[in-house]
Amino acid sequence: TRITFVTPAGQRIEIDAENGLSVMECARRANVPGIVAECGGACSCATCHVHVDPEWCAAAGEAAGMERDMLEFAEDVRDSSRLSCQVKVAPALDGLVVHLPAGQG
Ligand code: FES
Repeated sequence: TRITFVTPAGQRIEIDAENGLSVMECARRANVPGIVAECGGACSCATCHVHVDPEWCAAAGEAAGMERDMLEFAEDVRDSSRLSCQVKVAPALDGLVVHLPAGQG
């Protein structure tokens, strides 16, 4: 499943992500800058925050429950905000584009 990360400077980093893992885990494996993931995916640090590209918000779904609460600790939170450790890679997300918030990592 292809996922593209867009850095604050506009650089596009495309990775081949493994289905079943989280977007965060795949980003860490590929050394994508700006996904710090201090808590290791436990939904308790908000340093894996991304903005989902508008075209992909419906497919990726919205933050809910604990994830939404934790997003309050992130900066520049928008409607499209997700914690990437809570987004699971699946074939339906092939081509997914997410933007890395400025000032993270
Ligand atoms: Fe900590 Fe996602 S890795 S909230």
